[in-house]
Amino acid sequence: MEPVEINLGLYYLRALRADDRVDDRAAVVEGFADPETRRWVPGIQIDDLAGAGVYIARRAKEWTAGERCSWAVADPTTGELLGEVGLKDLDLAAGTAEASCWTHPAGRGRGTASHALGAALRFGFGALGLERVLYRHFESNLASARVAEKCGFERTEQVEQAVRGDGAEERMVVLVATRC
Ligand SMILES: CC(C)(COP(=O)(O)OP(=O)(O)OC[C@H]1O[C@@H](n2cnc3c(N)ncnc32)[C@H](O)[C@@H]1OP(=O)(O)O)[C@@H](O)C(=O)NCCC(=O)NCCS
Repeated sequence: MEPVEINLGLYYLRALRADDRVDDRAAVVEGFADPETRRWVPGIQIDDLAGAGVYIARRAKEWTAGERCSWAVADPTTGELLGEVGLKDLDLAAGTAEASCWTHPAGRGRGTASHALGAALRFGFGALGLERVLYRHFESNLASARVAEKCGFERTEQVEQAVRGDGAEERMVVLVATRC
């Protein structure tokens, strides 16, 4: 699949980039250096520009393979990376995926994640024909819970146990959004 761009007016969703015109690597390093991101998004360790470059290249490969649609949430005027949203574990035959998001710590609480993820969901249901999109968050990640609520996800009975980035074990809530 070719990366798809979405113009939301306030935000511009595009593939993550690390080239001579647009370079998201520094913002990716800052995003994943943030203690909140580290705590709530375990399993991704990005310490420097080289690591961010590997991450961005992986996202590009996932677009091509049809495994994951990922978008840099960019400021439409400056092109600056404000965060990332995505539909991962894409299964077009089953009509399923799982949502993901993080935002740069400097710009949280301004509606960035919920607006961008809402658009990703509309793309998933409308353009990709998905039927169900899951959203998982650690129970005490209240900002993430609010994003899920604002995007229309509803809690399922399913609860999982998982290890946070700081090593603590916590319940993981599973929510779902379905095509209207
Ligand atoms: C979760 C995250 C993506 C939200 O990004 P964001 O751009 O700030 O999201 P939004 O502004 O769209 O919405 C955040 C909502 O959470 C609320 N919120 C933030 N901190 C909160 C807290 N401690 N308790 C309750 N609500 C909280 C905000 O007030 C806002 O709700 P509102 O619009 O009703 O006021 C961001 O905090 C982040 O990157 N966290 C670290 C990584 C992460 O947790 N990713 C999700 C993994 S499941």
